[in-house]
Amino acid sequence: MTFSIHEKACRLVLFGGNGDLSYRKLLPALFNLERKELLAADLRIIGCSRAQLSDETFRAEAMEGLCENATADPKELPEVAERFLQRLSFVTLDANKEDDYQQLKQVIGDPAEKGCVIYYLATPPGLFVPICQQLQAAKMVNQQSRLVIEKPIGYNLKSSIDINDKVASIFEENNIYRIDHYMGKSAVQNLLALRFANLMFEPLWNHNYIDHVQITVSESVGVGNRKSFYDNVGALRDMVQNHLLQLVALIAMEPPTHLTPEALKHEKIKVFRSLRAIEGKRTRYNTVRGQYSAGEVDGKKVPAYNHEGENPEASNTESFVAIKADIDNWRWSGVPFYLRTGKRLKSRYAEIDIQFKNIHHSIFKLPTQANRLIIRLQPKDSIKLVIMNQEPSLSGALNLVSDPLNLSFYDQYEPADIPKGYERLLYDSIIGDSTLFMSRFEVEEAWKWTDTILAGWDEFDVPVEFYPAGSMGPDAAEQLLAKDGRKWFNNQYDND
Ligand code: BG6
Repeated sequence: MTFSIHEKACRLVLFGGNGDLSYRKLLPALFNLERKELLAADLRIIGCSRAQLSDETFRAEAMEGLCENATADPKELPEVAERFLQRLSFVTLDANKEDDYQQLKQVIGDPAEKGCVIYYLATPPGLFVPICQQLQAAKMVNQQSRLVIEKPIGYNLKSSIDINDKVASIFEENNIYRIDHYMGKSAVQNLLALRFANLMFEPLWNHNYIDHVQITVSESVGVGNRKSFYDNVGALRDMVQNHLLQLVALIAMEPPTHLTPEALKHEKIKVFRSLRAIEGKRTRYNTVRGQYSAGEVDGKKVPAYNHEGENPEASNTESFVAIKADIDNWRWSGVPFYLRTGKRLKSRYAEIDIQFKNIHHSIFKLPTQANRLIIRLQPKDSIKLVIMNQEPSLSGALNLVSDPLNLSFYDQYEPADIPKGYERLLYDSIIGDSTLFMSRFEVEEAWKWTDTILAGWDEFDVPVEFYPAGSMGPDAAEQLLAKDGRKWFNNQYDND
Protein backbone atom coordinates (compact mmCIF):
# COMPACT_ATOMS: atom_id res chain seq x y z
CA MET A 1 0.00 0.00 0.00
CA THR A 2 1.41 3.37 -0.94
CA PHE A 3 0.97 6.54 1.03
CA SER A 4 1.50 9.56 -1.14
CA ILE A 5 -0.55 12.60 -1.90
CA HIS A 6 -2.21 12.35 -5.28
CA GLU A 7 -0.29 14.61 -7.59
CA LYS A 8 -3.09 15.49 -9.94
CA ALA A 9 -5.97 17.81 -9.43
CA CYS A 10 -9.02 15.80 -8.71
CA ARG A 11 -12.78 16.07 -8.58
CA LEU A 12 -14.79 13.96 -6.17
CA VAL A 13 -18.45 13.82 -7.11
CA LEU A 14 -20.72 12.51 -4.38
CA PHE A 15 -24.03 11.23 -5.71
CA GLY A 16 -26.40 11.18 -2.74
CA GLY A 17 -24.28 14.09 -1.54
CA ASN A 18 -26.79 15.37 1.01
CA GLY A 19 -27.79 11.92 2.24
CA ASP A 20 -27.27 10.33 5.60
CA LEU A 21 -24.10 8.49 4.59
CA SER A 22 -22.57 11.62 3.16
CA TYR A 23 -23.20 13.84 6.21
CA ARG A 24 -22.51 11.18 8.81
CA LYS A 25 -19.53 9.36 7.33
CA LEU A 26 -18.14 10.58 4.02
CA LEU A 27 -17.75 14.32 4.63
CA PRO A 28 -16.44 13.83 8.19
CA ALA A 29 -13.91 11.34 6.80
CA LEU A 30 -12.83 13.82 4.13
CA PHE A 31 -12.58 16.52 6.78
CA ASN A 32 -10.19 14.30 8.72
CA LEU A 33 -8.07 13.94 5.60
CA GLU A 34 -8.07 17.72 5.31
CA ARG A 35 -6.95 18.01 8.91
CA LYS A 36 -4.10 15.60 8.21
CA GLU A 37 -3.18 17.62 5.10
CA LEU A 38 -3.74 14.66 2.83
CA LEU A 39 -5.99 16.34 0.27
CA ALA A 40 -4.42 17.95 -2.77
CA ALA A 41 -4.93 21.70 -2.81
CA ASP A 42 -7.14 21.69 -5.88
CA LEU A 43 -9.41 18.79 -4.97
CA ARG A 44 -13.04 19.89 -5.29
CA ILE A 45 -15.90 17.95 -3.72
CA ILE A 46 -19.19 18.20 -5.57
CA GLY A 47 -22.32 16.92 -3.87
CA CYS A 48 -25.31 16.14 -6.02
CA SER A 49 -28.84 14.85 -5.60
CA ARG A 50 -32.38 15.96 -6.45
CA ALA A 51 -32.40 18.38 -3.50
CA GLN A 52 -32.50 22.09 -4.32
CA LEU A 53 -29.49 23.22 -2.32
CA SER A 54 -27.27 26.19 -2.85
CA ASP A 55 -23.55 25.78 -2.26
CA GLU A 56 -23.99 27.77 0.97
CA THR A 57 -26.75 25.55 2.32
CA PHE A 58 -24.79 22.43 1.40
CA ARG A 59 -21.76 23.80 3.24
CA ALA A 60 -23.88 24.72 6.26
CA GLU A 61 -25.45 21.25 6.39
CA ALA A 62 -22.06 19.65 5.90
CA MET A 63 -20.72 21.70 8.82
CA GLU A 64 -23.54 20.44 11.05
CA GLY A 65 -22.63 16.90 10.03
CA LEU A 66 -18.97 17.55 10.85
CA CYS A 67 -19.83 18.97 14.28
CA GLU A 68 -21.79 15.84 15.10
CA ASN A 69 -19.62 13.21 13.49
CA ALA A 70 -16.04 14.28 12.84
CA THR A 71 -13.34 12.95 15.16
CA ALA A 72 -12.01 16.45 15.76
CA ASP A 73 -14.31 19.40 16.48
CA PRO A 74 -14.30 21.63 13.35
CA LYS A 75 -15.13 24.69 15.49
CA GLU A 76 -11.80 24.31 17.21
CA LEU A 77 -10.06 24.19 13.85
CA PRO A 78 -11.63 27.15 12.04
CA GLU A 79 -8.96 27.45 9.35
CA VAL A 80 -9.11 23.78 8.47
CA ALA A 81 -12.92 23.88 8.48
CA GLU A 82 -12.97 26.93 6.22
CA ARG A 83 -10.48 25.39 3.77
CA PHE A 84 -12.56 22.22 3.69
CA LEU A 85 -15.93 23.92 3.22
CA GLN A 86 -14.52 26.00 0.35
CA ARG A 87 -13.90 22.76 -1.54
CA LEU A 88 -17.62 21.92 -1.47
CA SER A 89 -20.25 22.78 -4.04
CA PHE A 90 -23.63 21.34 -4.90
CA VAL A 91 -25.43 20.47 -8.11
CA THR A 92 -29.13 19.63 -8.20
CA LEU A 93 -29.44 16.56 -10.38
CA ASP A 94 -32.07 13.93 -11.07
CA ALA A 95 -30.01 10.80 -11.68
CA ASN A 96 -32.27 9.78 -14.56
CA LYS A 97 -32.36 13.15 -16.38
CA GLU A 98 -29.90 13.53 -19.18
CA ASP A 99 -29.93 17.34 -19.14
CA ASP A 100 -28.99 17.57 -15.48
CA TYR A 101 -25.61 15.99 -16.21
CA GLN A 102 -24.63 18.92 -18.39
CA GLN A 103 -24.63 21.20 -15.40
CA LEU A 104 -22.58 18.74 -13.40
CA LYS A 105 -20.17 18.49 -16.32
CA GLN A 106 -19.72 22.23 -16.29
CA VAL A 107 -19.02 22.32 -12.57
CA ILE A 108 -16.49 19.50 -12.91
CA GLY A 109 -14.75 21.18 -15.82
CA ASP A 110 -12.99 19.23 -18.52
CA PRO A 111 -11.82 15.94 -16.91
CA ALA A 112 -8.88 15.71 -19.31
CA GLU A 113 -7.66 19.04 -18.03
CA LYS A 114 -8.59 18.60 -14.42
CA GLY A 115 -7.13 15.11 -14.00
CA CYS A 116 -8.91 12.25 -12.42
CA VAL A 117 -12.60 12.45 -11.53
CA ILE A 118 -14.06 10.11 -8.92
CA TYR A 119 -17.76 9.37 -9.03
CA TYR A 120 -18.86 8.10 -5.63
CA LEU A 121 -22.35 6.59 -5.73
CA ALA A 122 -23.75 6.79 -2.20
CA THR A 123 -27.13 5.79 -3.62
CA PRO A 124 -29.34 2.70 -3.65
CA PRO A 125 -27.95 0.01 -5.99
CA GLY A 126 -30.89 0.51 -8.36
CA LEU A 127 -29.30 3.82 -9.44
CA PHE A 128 -25.78 2.51 -10.12
CA VAL A 129 -26.41 1.53 -13.72
CA PRO A 130 -28.58 4.53 -14.73
CA ILE A 131 -26.01 6.97 -13.31
CA CYS A 132 -23.10 5.27 -15.07
CA GLN A 133 -25.02 5.22 -18.35
CA GLN A 134 -25.86 8.90 -18.05
CA LEU A 135 -22.24 9.74 -17.28
CA GLN A 136 -21.16 7.82 -20.35
CA ALA A 137 -23.79 9.44 -22.55
CA ALA A 138 -22.67 12.87 -21.35
CA LYS A 139 -19.05 11.92 -22.20
CA MET A 140 -18.00 12.34 -18.60
CA VAL A 141 -16.06 9.08 -18.36
CA ASN A 142 -12.53 8.63 -19.60
CA GLN A 143 -9.81 6.09 -18.87
CA GLN A 144 -8.84 7.83 -15.68
CA SER A 145 -12.34 8.18 -14.22
CA ARG A 146 -12.96 6.13 -11.12
CA LEU A 147 -16.23 4.78 -9.84
CA VAL A 148 -16.83 4.06 -6.16
CA ILE A 149 -19.90 1.99 -5.37
CA GLU A 150 -21.34 1.16 -1.99
CA LYS A 151 -22.49 -2.22 -0.83
CA PRO A 152 -24.90 -3.88 -1.27
CA ILE A 153 -23.95 -4.43 -4.92
CA GLY A 154 -27.34 -5.74 -5.99
CA TYR A 155 -29.90 -7.70 -4.10
CA ASN A 156 -28.75 -11.19 -4.98
CA LEU A 157 -26.29 -12.90 -7.33
CA LYS A 158 -28.35 -12.24 -10.44
CA SER A 159 -28.80 -8.53 -9.86
CA SER A 160 -25.19 -8.13 -8.81
CA ILE A 161 -23.97 -9.78 -12.05
CA ASP A 162 -26.25 -7.50 -13.97
CA ILE A 163 -24.85 -4.39 -12.25
CA ASN A 164 -21.26 -5.61 -12.58
CA ASP A 165 -21.67 -6.37 -16.29
CA LYS A 166 -23.24 -3.04 -17.14
CA VAL A 167 -20.84 -0.99 -15.05
CA ALA A 168 -17.91 -2.90 -16.59
CA SER A 169 -19.01 -1.82 -20.05
CA ILE A 170 -18.45 1.79 -18.97
CA PHE A 171 -15.60 1.77 -16.42
CA GLU A 172 -12.46 -0.35 -16.49
CA GLU A 173 -12.45 -3.00 -13.71
CA ASN A 174 -9.33 -1.49 -12.14
CA ASN A 175 -11.15 1.85 -11.92
CA ILE A 176 -14.14 0.35 -10.08
CA TYR A 177 -13.83 0.61 -6.31
CA ARG A 178 -16.44 -1.56 -4.56
CA ILE A 179 -16.39 -0.29 -1.04
CA ASP A 180 -16.92 -2.27 2.14
CA HIS A 181 -16.14 0.13 4.96
CA TYR A 182 -15.17 -2.73 7.28
CA MET A 183 -12.08 -3.21 5.12
CA GLY A 184 -11.10 0.35 5.97
CA LYS A 185 -11.19 -0.13 9.73
CA SER A 186 -7.68 -0.08 11.18
CA ALA A 187 -8.35 -3.13 13.30
CA VAL A 188 -9.46 -5.08 10.23
CA GLN A 189 -6.32 -4.23 8.27
CA ASN A 190 -4.35 -5.14 11.33
CA LEU A 191 -5.55 -8.71 10.87
CA LEU A 192 -3.08 -8.93 8.01
CA ALA A 193 -0.23 -7.66 10.19
CA LEU A 194 -1.23 -9.92 13.06
CA ARG A 195 -1.25 -13.00 10.88
CA PHE A 196 1.55 -12.30 8.46
CA ALA A 197 4.01 -10.05 10.31
CA ASN A 198 4.31 -12.35 13.32
CA LEU A 199 5.87 -15.75 13.47
CA MET A 200 3.96 -17.10 16.41
CA PHE A 201 0.37 -17.30 15.14
CA GLU A 202 0.68 -18.72 11.66
CA PRO A 203 1.97 -22.20 12.66
CA LEU A 204 -1.07 -22.55 14.94
CA TRP A 205 -3.54 -21.04 12.48
CA ASN A 206 -5.26 -24.24 11.36
CA HIS A 207 -7.52 -27.12 12.41
CA ASN A 208 -4.78 -28.79 14.45
CA TYR A 209 -4.78 -25.98 17.01
CA ILE A 210 -7.93 -23.95 16.51
CA ASP A 211 -11.19 -25.30 17.88
CA HIS A 212 -13.54 -22.73 16.40
CA VAL A 213 -13.90 -19.06 15.48
CA GLN A 214 -16.64 -16.65 16.56
CA ILE A 215 -17.35 -13.37 14.81
CA THR A 216 -19.85 -11.02 16.42
CA VAL A 217 -20.94 -7.64 15.10
CA SER A 218 -23.42 -6.39 17.63
CA GLU A 219 -25.28 -3.11 17.22
CA SER A 220 -27.41 -1.35 19.80
CA VAL A 221 -29.13 0.91 17.26
CA GLY A 222 -32.41 -0.08 15.67
CA VAL A 223 -33.45 0.42 12.06
CA GLY A 224 -35.23 3.69 12.90
CA ASN A 225 -35.77 5.86 9.83
CA ARG A 226 -33.91 3.39 7.58
CA LYS A 227 -36.78 0.94 7.94
CA SER A 228 -38.13 1.30 4.39
CA PHE A 229 -34.66 0.53 2.97
CA TYR A 230 -33.80 -2.12 5.53
CA ASP A 231 -37.07 -3.98 5.28
CA ASN A 232 -36.20 -5.07 1.74
CA VAL A 233 -32.72 -6.08 2.75
CA GLY A 234 -32.38 -7.65 6.21
CA ALA A 235 -29.29 -8.51 8.23
CA LEU A 236 -28.04 -11.27 5.94
CA ARG A 237 -27.74 -8.99 2.93
CA ASP A 238 -26.90 -5.86 4.90
CA MET A 239 -24.10 -7.24 7.07
CA VAL A 240 -23.23 -10.89 6.44
CA GLN A 241 -22.91 -10.89 2.63
CA ASN A 242 -20.27 -8.19 2.89
CA HIS A 243 -18.81 -7.14 6.26
CA LEU A 244 -18.84 -10.49 8.05
CA LEU A 245 -17.71 -12.48 5.03
CA GLN A 246 -14.82 -10.07 4.49
CA LEU A 247 -13.76 -10.74 8.07
CA VAL A 248 -14.06 -14.51 7.51
CA ALA A 249 -11.89 -14.14 4.41
CA LEU A 250 -9.13 -12.25 6.23
CA ILE A 251 -9.08 -14.77 9.06
CA ALA A 252 -9.25 -17.85 6.86
CA MET A 253 -7.22 -16.98 3.77
CA GLU A 254 -3.83 -18.36 2.83
CA PRO A 255 -0.91 -15.91 2.92
CA PRO A 256 -1.05 -13.84 -0.27
CA THR A 257 2.13 -13.85 -2.35
CA HIS A 258 2.37 -10.05 -2.16
CA LEU A 259 0.30 -7.27 -0.70
CA THR A 260 -1.13 -6.34 -4.07
CA PRO A 261 -4.84 -5.90 -4.79
CA GLU A 262 -4.81 -8.92 -7.13
CA ALA A 263 -3.06 -11.27 -4.68
CA LEU A 264 -5.31 -10.31 -1.79
CA LYS A 265 -8.50 -10.61 -3.80
CA HIS A 266 -7.37 -13.96 -5.20
CA GLU A 267 -6.92 -15.41 -1.70
CA LYS A 268 -10.22 -14.02 -0.45
CA ILE A 269 -12.10 -15.53 -3.39
CA LYS A 270 -10.58 -18.95 -2.61
CA VAL A 271 -12.08 -18.74 0.88
CA PHE A 272 -15.52 -17.84 -0.46
CA ARG A 273 -15.32 -20.76 -2.88
CA SER A 274 -14.50 -23.11 0.00
CA LEU A 275 -17.49 -22.07 2.10
CA ARG A 276 -19.79 -25.06 2.35
CA ALA A 277 -23.20 -24.18 0.92
CA ILE A 278 -25.94 -24.03 3.52
CA GLU A 279 -28.90 -25.16 1.53
CA GLY A 280 -32.20 -26.93 1.86
CA LYS A 281 -32.91 -28.32 5.32
CA ARG A 282 -29.46 -27.38 6.57
CA THR A 283 -30.63 -23.78 6.77
CA ARG A 284 -32.82 -24.89 9.69
CA TYR A 285 -29.86 -26.33 11.58
CA ASN A 286 -27.08 -23.94 10.63
CA THR A 287 -28.79 -20.59 10.68
CA VAL A 288 -30.99 -18.51 12.96
CA ARG A 289 -32.97 -15.52 11.82
CA GLY A 290 -34.31 -13.14 14.41
CA GLN A 291 -36.21 -9.90 14.82
CA TYR A 292 -36.33 -7.60 17.82
CA SER A 293 -39.43 -7.07 19.85
CA ALA A 294 -39.86 -4.10 22.20
CA GLY A 295 -37.34 -3.82 24.99
CA GLU A 296 -34.81 -1.59 26.67
CA VAL A 297 -31.42 -0.50 25.38
CA ASP A 298 -29.09 1.67 27.46
CA GLY A 299 -31.86 2.23 29.96
CA LYS A 300 -34.32 3.52 27.32
CA LYS A 301 -37.49 1.81 26.19
CA VAL A 302 -37.41 1.10 22.46
CA PRO A 303 -40.13 -0.16 20.08
CA ALA A 304 -40.28 -3.50 18.30
CA TYR A 305 -38.87 -3.74 14.76
CA ASN A 306 -42.40 -3.95 13.42
CA HIS A 307 -43.31 -0.65 15.07
CA GLU A 308 -40.34 1.28 13.68
CA GLY A 309 -40.56 3.74 10.79
CA GLU A 310 -43.20 6.01 9.40
CA ASN A 311 -45.52 3.25 8.20
CA PRO A 312 -45.14 0.49 10.74
CA GLU A 313 -46.13 -2.79 9.17
CA ALA A 314 -45.58 -6.36 10.25
CA SER A 315 -42.81 -7.98 8.23
CA ASN A 316 -40.59 -10.97 8.72
CA THR A 317 -37.34 -9.25 7.73
CA GLU A 318 -34.50 -10.42 9.97
CA SER A 319 -32.72 -7.84 12.11
CA PHE A 320 -30.50 -10.59 13.52
CA VAL A 321 -28.77 -13.56 12.00
CA ALA A 322 -26.52 -16.27 13.40
CA ILE A 323 -24.82 -18.84 11.21
CA LYS A 324 -22.58 -21.82 11.65
CA ALA A 325 -20.31 -21.76 8.61
CA ASP A 326 -17.85 -24.44 7.52
CA ILE A 327 -14.87 -23.95 5.28
CA ASP A 328 -14.09 -27.04 3.28
CA ASN A 329 -10.38 -26.81 2.74
CA TRP A 330 -7.19 -28.32 4.10
CA ARG A 331 -6.55 -25.65 6.73
CA TRP A 332 -10.02 -25.31 8.22
CA SER A 333 -11.57 -28.75 7.93
CA GLY A 334 -13.69 -29.36 11.04
CA VAL A 335 -13.33 -25.80 12.43
CA PRO A 336 -16.72 -24.06 12.57
CA PHE A 337 -16.92 -20.30 12.09
CA TYR A 338 -19.89 -18.98 14.07
CA LEU A 339 -21.12 -15.65 12.76
CA ARG A 340 -23.63 -13.41 14.43
CA THR A 341 -24.89 -9.90 13.88
CA GLY A 342 -27.97 -7.99 14.89
CA LYS A 343 -29.56 -4.67 15.65
CA ARG A 344 -30.92 -3.55 19.01
CA LEU A 345 -28.63 -5.90 20.86
CA LYS A 346 -27.29 -5.18 24.30
CA SER A 347 -24.31 -3.09 23.25
CA ARG A 348 -22.31 -1.99 20.24
CA TYR A 349 -19.20 -4.03 19.68
CA ALA A 350 -17.50 -6.12 17.03
CA GLU A 351 -15.14 -8.88 17.94
CA ILE A 352 -13.41 -11.92 16.50
CA ASP A 353 -12.64 -14.74 18.91
CA ILE A 354 -10.16 -17.37 17.86
CA GLN A 355 -10.63 -20.23 20.31
CA PHE A 356 -7.62 -22.52 20.44
CA LYS A 357 -7.82 -26.17 21.51
CA ASN A 358 -6.88 -27.10 25.03
CA ILE A 359 -3.48 -28.58 25.90
CA HIS A 360 -3.15 -32.29 25.09
CA HIS A 361 -1.77 -33.34 28.45
CA SER A 362 -1.90 -31.55 31.77
CA ILE A 363 0.62 -31.94 34.58
CA PHE A 364 -1.68 -29.91 36.83
CA LYS A 365 -4.40 -31.59 38.76
CA LEU A 366 -6.57 -28.65 37.89
CA PRO A 367 -8.65 -27.80 34.87
CA THR A 368 -7.00 -25.54 32.31
CA GLN A 369 -8.78 -23.25 29.90
CA ALA A 370 -7.77 -23.19 26.28
CA ASN A 371 -6.09 -20.03 24.94
CA ARG A 372 -8.14 -17.50 23.09
CA LEU A 373 -7.16 -14.64 20.83
CA ILE A 374 -9.69 -11.84 20.99
CA ILE A 375 -9.54 -9.25 18.25
CA ARG A 376 -11.71 -6.29 19.16
CA LEU A 377 -12.62 -4.25 16.11
CA GLN A 378 -14.77 -1.66 17.86
CA PRO A 379 -15.51 0.41 19.80
CA LYS A 380 -11.96 0.38 21.20
CA ASP A 381 -9.60 -1.64 19.03
CA SER A 382 -7.54 -4.14 20.94
CA ILE A 383 -5.97 -7.54 20.75
CA LYS A 384 -6.10 -9.77 23.78
CA LEU A 385 -4.48 -13.13 24.22
CA VAL A 386 -6.05 -15.12 27.00
CA ILE A 387 -3.46 -17.35 28.64
CA MET A 388 -3.26 -19.56 31.71
CA ASN A 389 -1.40 -18.12 34.68
CA GLN A 390 -0.51 -19.16 38.14
CA GLU A 391 -2.01 -16.88 40.76
CA PRO A 392 0.70 -15.62 43.13
CA SER A 393 0.25 -17.02 46.63
CA LEU A 394 2.30 -18.32 49.58
CA SER A 395 -0.23 -20.89 50.62
CA GLY A 396 1.49 -23.58 48.61
CA ALA A 397 -1.76 -24.32 46.81
CA LEU A 398 -1.51 -23.98 43.08
CA ASN A 399 -4.21 -21.92 41.53
CA LEU A 400 -4.48 -21.53 37.78
CA VAL A 401 -6.39 -18.64 36.32
CA SER A 402 -6.90 -17.44 32.77
CA ASP A 403 -6.07 -13.78 32.15
CA PRO A 404 -5.74 -11.62 29.05
CA LEU A 405 -2.55 -10.06 27.78
CA ASN A 406 -3.90 -6.81 26.48
CA LEU A 407 -2.75 -4.63 23.60
CA SER A 408 -5.09 -1.68 23.48
CA PHE A 409 -4.66 0.47 20.39
CA TYR A 410 -6.86 3.02 22.01
CA ASP A 411 -4.38 3.58 24.82
CA GLN A 412 -1.33 3.09 22.63
CA TYR A 413 -2.22 5.61 19.92
CA GLU A 414 -3.99 8.96 19.88
CA PRO A 415 -7.62 7.88 19.19
CA ALA A 416 -8.23 10.80 16.79
CA ASP A 417 -5.24 9.63 14.73
CA ILE A 418 -6.62 6.12 14.20
CA PRO A 419 -8.22 6.44 10.76
CA LYS A 420 -11.88 5.52 10.47
CA GLY A 421 -13.01 3.06 7.79
CA TYR A 422 -14.28 5.64 5.33
CA GLU A 423 -11.32 7.92 5.85
CA ARG A 424 -8.91 5.24 4.82
CA LEU A 425 -10.98 4.06 1.87
CA LEU A 426 -11.72 7.53 0.53
CA TYR A 427 -8.06 8.32 0.73
CA ASP A 428 -7.17 5.10 -1.11
CA SER A 429 -9.68 5.85 -3.85
CA ILE A 430 -8.20 9.33 -4.23
CA ILE A 431 -4.65 8.01 -4.56
CA GLY A 432 -5.79 5.09 -6.70
CA ASP A 433 -4.99 2.16 -4.41
CA SER A 434 -7.64 -0.54 -4.71
CA THR A 435 -6.07 -3.11 -2.35
CA LEU A 436 -8.82 -2.83 0.23
CA PHE A 437 -11.72 -2.82 -2.22
CA MET A 438 -13.70 -5.79 -3.48
CA SER A 439 -13.47 -7.31 -6.91
CA ARG A 440 -16.64 -8.29 -8.71
CA PHE A 441 -15.80 -11.97 -8.26
CA GLU A 442 -15.57 -11.61 -4.49
CA VAL A 443 -18.95 -9.93 -4.42
CA GLU A 444 -20.48 -12.58 -6.66
CA GLU A 445 -19.03 -15.53 -4.72
CA ALA A 446 -20.34 -13.99 -1.49
CA TRP A 447 -23.79 -13.64 -3.04
CA LYS A 448 -23.74 -17.28 -4.17
CA TRP A 449 -23.32 -18.34 -0.56
CA THR A 450 -25.94 -16.03 0.93
CA ASP A 451 -28.43 -16.73 -1.90
CA THR A 452 -28.61 -20.41 -0.95
CA ILE A 453 -29.40 -19.44 2.64
CA LEU A 454 -32.13 -17.06 1.50
CA ALA A 455 -33.58 -19.77 -0.74
CA GLY A 456 -33.49 -22.27 2.16
CA TRP A 457 -35.30 -19.81 4.45
CA ASP A 458 -38.06 -19.48 1.89
CA GLU A 459 -38.32 -23.11 0.94
CA PHE A 460 -38.30 -24.47 4.48
CA ASP A 461 -40.17 -21.60 6.08
CA VAL A 462 -37.40 -21.03 8.58
CA PRO A 463 -39.19 -19.03 11.29
CA VAL A 464 -38.16 -15.59 12.47
CA GLU A 465 -37.33 -15.90 16.18
CA PHE A 466 -38.14 -12.86 18.30
CA TYR A 467 -35.70 -11.42 20.83
CA PRO A 468 -36.25 -8.55 23.22
CA ALA A 469 -34.36 -5.39 22.27
CA GLY A 470 -31.41 -5.11 24.64
CA SER A 471 -30.69 -8.85 24.73
CA MET A 472 -28.02 -10.71 22.76
CA GLY A 473 -30.48 -12.23 20.29
CA PRO A 474 -32.94 -15.11 20.30
CA ASP A 475 -32.47 -18.28 22.36
CA ALA A 476 -32.12 -20.20 19.13
CA ALA A 477 -28.77 -18.46 18.62
CA GLU A 478 -27.58 -19.88 21.95
CA GLN A 479 -28.84 -23.29 20.88
CA LEU A 480 -26.87 -23.08 17.65
CA LEU A 481 -23.66 -23.28 19.67
CA ALA A 482 -25.06 -25.37 22.53
CA LYS A 483 -25.73 -28.20 20.03
CA ASP A 484 -21.95 -28.28 19.53
CA GLY A 485 -21.22 -27.98 23.25
CA ARG A 486 -20.12 -24.32 22.92
CA LYS A 487 -21.23 -20.86 24.01
CA TRP A 488 -20.97 -17.34 22.64
CA PHE A 489 -18.30 -15.37 24.47
CA ASN A 490 -20.41 -12.24 24.78
CA ASN A 491 -17.85 -9.53 25.16
CA GLN A 492 -16.25 -11.17 28.15
CA TYR A 493 -13.31 -8.83 28.70
CA ASP A 494 -15.09 -5.60 27.97
CA ASN A 495 -13.61 -3.74 30.93
CA ASP A 496 -9.99 -4.64 30.38
C1 BG6 B 1 -23.62 -0.66 7.24
C2 BG6 B 1 -24.99 -1.25 7.40
O1 BG6 B 1 -22.97 -1.19 6.13
O2 BG6 B 1 -22.86 -0.94 8.40
C3 BG6 B 1 -25.68 -0.70 8.62
O3 BG6 B 1 -25.76 -0.94 6.24
C4 BG6 B 1 -24.81 -0.90 9.84
O4 BG6 B 1 -26.94 -1.32 8.82
C5 BG6 B 1 -23.40 -0.38 9.59
O5 BG6 B 1 -25.42 -0.19 10.93
C6 BG6 B 1 -22.49 -0.76 10.74
O6 BG6 B 1 -21.26 -0.13 10.57
P1 BG6 B 1 -20.31 0.16 11.83
O7 BG6 B 1 -19.06 0.69 11.23
O8 BG6 B 1 -21.03 1.13 12.69
O9 BG6 B 1 -20.13 -1.17 12.51
